Amino acid sequence: MAKTATSFACTSCGQASFRWMGRCPGCGEWNTLVEQAARPLADGRPARRDGRATGRRPSRPAEARKPVVLAEVDSGEVARLRTGSDELDRVLGGGLVPGSVVLIGGSPGIGKSTLMSAALASIQAGGGRALYVSGEESAAQVRLRADRLGPHALAVPVLAETSLEVVLASLAHERPQACVIDSVQTLWSSDLTGAPGSVGQVQEVAGALERFAREHGCAMILVGHVTKEGTLAGPRVLEHAVDCVLQFEGERERSFRTLRALKNRFGSTNEIGVFEMRAGGLDEVADPSDRFLRDAEPVAGSCVLCAMEGTRPLLVEVQALVAPTDVVPPRRVPNGIDRNRLSMILAVLARHGAPALGSADVFVNVAGGVRIEEPGADLAIAMAVASAARNEPLTAGGSPSGCFGEIGLTGELRYVAHADRRLEEASRFGLEQIVLPARCADDELSPAGRDLAVPVPTLAKALDAALGGRAGRSRAA
Ligand SMILES: Nc1ncnc2c1ncn2[C@@H]1O[C@H](COP(=O)(O)OP(=O)(O)OP(=O)(O)O)[C@@H](O)[C@H]1O
Ligand SMILES: [Mg+2]
Repeated sequence: MAKTATSFACTSCGQASFRWMGRCPGCGEWNTLVEQAARPLADGRPARRDGRATGRRPSRPAEARKPVVLAEVDSGEVARLRTGSDELDRVLGGGLVPGSVVLIGGSPGIGKSTLMSAALASIQAGGGRALYVSGEESAAQVRLRADRLGPHALAVPVLAETSLEVVLASLAHERPQACVIDSVQTLWSSDLTGAPGSVGQVQEVAGALERFAREHGCAMILVGHVTKEGTLAGPRVLEHAVDCVLQFEGERERSFRTLRALKNRFGSTNEIGVFEMRAGGLDEVADPSDRFLRDAEPVAGSCVLCAMEGTRPLLVEVQALVAPTDVVPPRRVPNGIDRNRLSMILAVLARHGAPALGSADVFVNVAGGVRIEEPGADLAIAMAVASAARNEPLTAGGSPSGCFGEIGLTGELRYVAHADRRLEEASRFGLEQIVLPARCADDELSPAGRDLAVPVPTLAKALDAALGGRAGRSRAA
C-alpha cells in the first residue's frame, strides 16, 4: 500500500515543513514540529504536502445554509450507558454518553484497566455490546485480570492490537456501543513515521477514534498515561478534543483511589468517586466519610474537615506536625493539599494568632491519601497546624471537633457554600462542635446543624473557640 505523504507542522506557530527539524524555521521554538498525515481535501483533490491549500479556486461555490434557532433543535434525549458503578456514573455526570470520547489518566498501576474492565463487564452483562482493545497487554494477561473481577468480566470481547488501521476496521465490523482503548499511547498509525506515543501519533490515533465514535454513536474511552509531573502524557490538544477528562488518583501503597473529572462536557467537574482496591477488583466506597474518619482521634495536630466534593459532603481528617528544625529555610511539606495554599495559610496564621513557625518544619497531610482542593479546607489546615504547634487537641465533649471555611488574607473567614449539608454530615458522625465562618450561619440551617455550629468572623476567633483562648500563647514563649 502506498504511504500517505506526511508533513510536519509547528505546534506553536503553525509553520509547515517537509522534514523534521529541531528548531522551527518560523518562530524559532525548539522541539515543536509534529508529524501529521496529509489528508485529501473534501472535494477529493490531494492536499499539498506542506498542508496549504492548492491555490485553485473551488470548482463550485458552496451553498449557504440557514441557521436554526436553538429552541427548534431536536435534542433527541439520549439514554446514557450505565457503567454499573454508581461512583463512576456520578463522575461522568450520569453515565457514558453515546458518541462521546472520555480520556482517563492515572499513574502506572493505579487501577485504570481494572476500572474499565469492570465497566465494560457491566455494560456487556446489561445487554450492551462492549469491546476492550488492549495495546499494552496480551489477551491472556487481560483474561488474568478478568478472572479476578468475576464471570461478567470474562464475557467481554478483547482485541490485543496496536495497529490503528486494524482497530478501526474491527470497530467498523463489531460496532460496539462502548469501547475501551488501553492505552491511546500504544496505538500507531502506519500513515506516520513517528514512534507510538509520539505527539503526532497520539493526535492521529485519538482523532481517528473520535471520528469513529461520533459517526457511530460509540462511547469511546481512551486510557492515557500520565507523566512524572502528573499531567496527562501526550499533547494538550487531546484534552481539548475529548468530551471528558477523568483523573484516577491515589497512593499506590494505600488502597483508596479517587476519580475526578478535570473536564466534562456533559456533567459537573466537582464530583468525585471513591474506590478501594481489593482482591476482587475496585469496590465502590459508598460512605467515604466513614472510611476516612475511622482512625481520627482527638489528639493534637488533628482536625476534622467538613468538605464538599461536588454534591456530596465528605468528612476527612487533616493532620499536621510541627517539628523544630535547624534547616533554613524550614520545610513545608503538604500532602493532599496545594503547596501555595499551605504557604498562604501559614503566613496568615503567623500574622493572626498562632505561635511563630519560623524555625519549625511543618508537615500537613490529608489522611487516607485523598486530595482536597476546595478553599473551604483552609480553616481545617490552619487549625491542625495551630493545634500541633501548641500541642493541644481540638476537642469538644471528648469527640474531635471539626471546621470548614475559607481564610482571607486579612485573617477573616469567608463564606463557603452548603453549610447545612456539611453540618448534617458532621452530626451524622457524632461530632459535637463545628467552627464555621459567621456568614455561613445566615444560611438556613437545620436544628441539628444549629446545635453544632460555632460561627466566628475571623481566624483568631476560630482558634480561640477551638483551642479555648490558648492559641495566642506559644508553648515556647
Ligand atoms: N490480587 C490483588 N489484590 C489486590 N490488588 C490487586 C491484585 N492484583 C492487582 N491488584 C492491584 O491492581 C493494580 C493493577 O491494576 P491495573 O492493571 O488496572 O492498573 P493500571 O492503572 O491499568 O496499570 P498500567 O498503568 O500498568 O496499565 C495493582 O497495582 C494492584 O494495586
Ligand atoms: Mg493498564
